Amino acid sequence: MKTLLFEDNDEGIAKAAEILKKGGLVAFPTETVYGLGADALRAPAVAAVYAAKGRPSDNPMIVHIADPADLAGLTEDMTGDMEKLMAAFWPGPMTMIVRRKPVVPDVTTGGLDTVGVRLPSNEVARKLIRAAGCPVAAPSANLSGRPSPTSAEHVIADLDGRIDGIIVSGSCDVGIESTVVDVTGDTPEILRPGIITPEDMEKVLGKPVKLDPALFSGPGEDFRPRAPGMKYKHYAPKAEMQIFEGEPEAVRKAVIAEKERLEAEGRKVAVRIFEEGAERNAAHELFAFLRQADEDGADNILVSALPEKGVGFSVMNRMLKSAGYNIKKV
Ligand code: TXA
Ligand code: MG
Repeated sequence: MKTLLFEDNDEGIAKAAEILKKGGLVAFPTETVYGLGADALRAPAVAAVYAAKGRPSDNPMIVHIADPADLAGLTEDMTGDMEKLMAAFWPGPMTMIVRRKPVVPDVTTGGLDTVGVRLPSNEVARKLIRAAGCPVAAPSANLSGRPSPTSAEHVIADLDGRIDGIIVSGSCDVGIESTVVDVTGDTPEILRPGIITPEDMEKVLGKPVKLDPALFSGPGEDFRPRAPGMKYKHYAPKAEMQIFEGEPEAVRKAVIAEKERLEAEGRKVAVRIFEEGAERNAAHELFAFLRQADEDGADNILVSALPEKGVGFSVMNRMLKSAGYNIKKV
């Protein structure tokens, strides 16, 4: 199939919306990463998203809406906690897991009785959803297993010829996917960390939040994350990746030594030292760096760890998966 490229102006958005209305697939920018959209209430359209990405069918989609009032079309849930989180973080990079109404098809939720809902802050995304006139199911617009796309070029590299269209817009501000929080219980529980941290949520809620215990373990026998997508090999570059953890100076030395050793073997090495205190920047750059390393034909990727707190915890969650948990203390 020929994939059409649309500009991110009103005309381009209108054309893209027509495709969604007809049950087609369009990739579009959000503030986190590019999404691959389909009408969330039409089962065949959503099924086509799984096929285009090569995504396992038990991995549910996030449903995107344009206005807070749209939430009521997808769920009957509304609690004080939800109101507080929505007021503080919507529009923005937060997905709430709520109980679904029957109108949301099984295929959209991977058979779960809950649905993830997100109201993005990216204006192009919201205009598209409004113009389409339906909630838009959208996973990250990458081939399953690859790093999430933070530019239209990344989407083209993965999905050209597999989807109907792409809205070409700038690079994504945040760079890692939304914080996913389950609000179906008494205590909100974070299933996927993002730029909105547990501390941010606790301030707004005035009480502690939980973190899915699976966020603290690797893929062993007991690795059963509550967000199905967190269990899959993810964000993986083609190159072999290793993370170095320790005092900044020791890490720098170890990375340089390893780079020299590998290069002496004739291997091509990509290196990135992430600075402490610049976690948001690391989030913004990580996926683009991994894709660039692949494009440059790197055999190995060497990176420094970030302290696992705040946004650093969220970036490390992705880095560890990219590296297949290959982390070395120095
Ligand atoms: O920032 C984002 O959230 C991006 C942009 C496009 O909005 N979307 C995104 O979608 O990252 P995706 O499909 O790549 O990741 C969705 C994650 C998966 O880990 C999935 O398992 C989890 O959210 N999820 C979705 N619905 C869920 C549900 N009902 N219960 C538990 N986890 C759910
Ligand atoms: Mg994804």
